[in-house]
Amino acid sequence: MDNALKLNTVVLSEDRKSIVILDQTLLPKNIKYLKLSKRDEIWEAIYKLRVRGAPAIGCAAAFGLYILASGYEGDDVEGFLSFVEKEKDYLNSSRPTAVNLSWALTRLWNMLLANKDKHTVRELKEMLGEEADSVWNEDVAISRAIGSYGFELLHHGDGILTHCNAGTLATAKYGTALAPIYIALEHGWNDLKVYCDETRPLLQGARLSAFEMQTAGVYTTLICDDMASITMKRGKINIIFVGADRVAANGDFANKIGTSGVAIMARYYGIPFYCCAPTTTIDMATKTGADIPIEERKPEEVTEMWYKERMAPEGVHVDNPAFDVTDHSLVTGIITEKGIAYPPFDKAFERMGIK
Ligand code: MRU
Repeated sequence: MDNALKLNTVVLSEDRKSIVILDQTLLPKNIKYLKLSKRDEIWEAIYKLRVRGAPAIGCAAAFGLYILASGYEGDDVEGFLSFVEKEKDYLNSSRPTAVNLSWALTRLWNMLLANKDKHTVRELKEMLGEEADSVWNEDVAISRAIGSYGFELLHHGDGILTHCNAGTLATAKYGTALAPIYIALEHGWNDLKVYCDETRPLLQGARLSAFEMQTAGVYTTLICDDMASITMKRGKINIIFVGADRVAANGDFANKIGTSGVAIMARYYGIPFYCCAPTTTIDMATKTGADIPIEERKPEEVTEMWYKERMAPEGVHVDNPAFDVTDHSLVTGIITEKGIAYPPFDKAFERMGIK
C-alpha cells in the first residue's frame, strides 16, 4: 500500500468543475475517489464524513462554494450574490463544530463583498476559484509548519498517543497532530512509536490514523479507547498530540469525542498533552468551550455501525455527541503554524496576533 501521504484528501478536478475527494468512509479497505459537483452531494459528503477533519472540511467547503457559484447563470451581480449566499448557508449547515467550515465560507464571501462593485460575475467566479485554491495551498504550508514546531518537542524513541485522525486525511496535506511524525520521518527518524486510540464510534483512529502511520512506515499500535489509561500507566506514552475542531479564546478546545478523557488521564500520569491546530481553527469570537456547539449524531453509529448485526438492545437510549471540550487547564501547549502557545492562552494568542 502506498504511503497515505500520496493520497489527495480533497482537490479540484482538472477541469475545475468538481471536487475530487477520497471517500474516507471506505478506508482503509478501499481507495475510492468521488467526483462531486452538485450541492446535495457536497453537503452529504461533509455530513457523512466522506471528507472530514476540520481543515479538510474547510477546503471542501471553499472548493464547493466555488463550484456551486460557477453554476450561476446570468450576469447580474446582486442576483449572483444572493445565489452564492444561499449556497454558502446551505454548505455551512452540514456540520456545526469544526469552525474551519464557516471560516472558509466566510473568507470567500467577504472576498466577494469586497469586490462586488468592481468586477463582473465572470470575474467574481474566477476570483472565488483563486481564493479557494489559496485556502488549500495555505493549509499545506500551515500543516508543515505545525509539524516542524511539533517535531522540536520529540525525542528519539518516543511513544506518541493520538486520538481520532488529525493526519494528512484531515487536512489538505500532512495533518496537524500527525504532521510532526511526517517531519520526523523526513529527518530520517524511524524509531518513533505511535499509539492510535481507535476512537469510537466512527473509528477514525483505527481506520485512518493507523492506516496513515502504518503506510508511512511508522511502528504503529492500535488500542481501544479504554486502553489508554493502562498504556500510559505502563510508561509507553511520552507525549500526546491531538487535533482540534474549534479552539476558544481561552484555550478550551473541541475535538473528537474522548479527547477530554485523554487529557484528564495525561494530567494524572504527568504526560505532556498538546493540541495541534492551525490558527484558522482558533475562534476568538468563541470565548470559552461552553460556547462551542457540539454536534449530536445518529444513535445507529453507536448501536449498529461496524457490527454484522445490531449489538445493543432495541429501544435503549443512546447519546452520541461527536465532540467534547478539553479544558484549557489540561493543555500543555497549542501548536500552531505561528509557534507554540503556552498558558495563559488568551495572552499567547494576543502576542501571536490572532484576532
Ligand atoms: O468527526 P471528524 O472525523 O471530522 O472529527 C475530526 C477531529 O476531531 C479531528 O481531530 C479535528 O478535526 C482536527 S483535524 C486536523
